[in-house]
Amino acid sequence: MEKPPVITIDGPSGSGKGTIASRVASELSYHLLDSGALYRILGIATLKHGVALNNEPELAKLAKSLDIAFGENGSGSVSLDGDDVSLEIRSDRGSDMASRVGAIPAARDALFERQLAFLQPPGLVADGRDMGTVVFPDAEVKIYLTASPEERARRRYKQLIGKGIDAILPALLRELKERDERDSKREVSPLVPAEDALVLDTTDLSIDEVVEEVLNQAKIAGVLSK
Ligand code: DC
Repeated sequence: MEKPPVITIDGPSGSGKGTIASRVASELSYHLLDSGALYRILGIATLKHGVALNNEPELAKLAKSLDIAFGENGSGSVSLDGDDVSLEIRSDRGSDMASRVGAIPAARDALFERQLAFLQPPGLVADGRDMGTVVFPDAEVKIYLTASPEERARRRYKQLIGKGIDAILPALLRELKERDERDSKREVSPLVPAEDALVLDTTDLSIDEVVEEVLNQAKIAGVLSK
């Protein structure tokens, strides 16, 4: 069977990846992989199961055994061991733990196969940090979204407040810069655009404009809808 097409959308937090990926997936009726959610869930699960981050064998075991279920594409809802953890994984603690486990090679290896399993017909939109560089290096379309740190912190602030989660803008900006630093300096799968990715700065673009550009790239690459 021919491999279904893949569109990768990578970039830092607040670049708009999540929103764009889910919109593009729904436009094309493709599956959606929110890889950040997997790292977030693993981070929260290490706290729940009392697994220390320097215990790589236990961490890998935990990553492989996680019982994760995603809700409908774009709903953002996700459960761990049957419990709804949608809000918890988006909290500051969830973000921090995700970035920490993301820097551990054993955690990345253990989540690798899980991510490949999302590739099902008719196609996949994969959102993350290393989708185009490591997980789906042969993707038909690779997009790398960026935006200024200030704009990204503002977006995260609005997103959290909208979900009823307390947030302080200057603290969010500081934490976002810390996570950027950790994500881009780590030795394994650092946050960098794939050489063949289209880099789009979304600071002054609307969601609709970015979605349109990604769909346009998909068309150019011959990736068809429905
Ligand atoms: O995309 P996000 O903000 O939900 O990701 C949360 C953290 O997870 C991010 O700080 C780094 C990590 N992550 C990663 O290392 N690799 C991915 N493919 C996705 C996320």
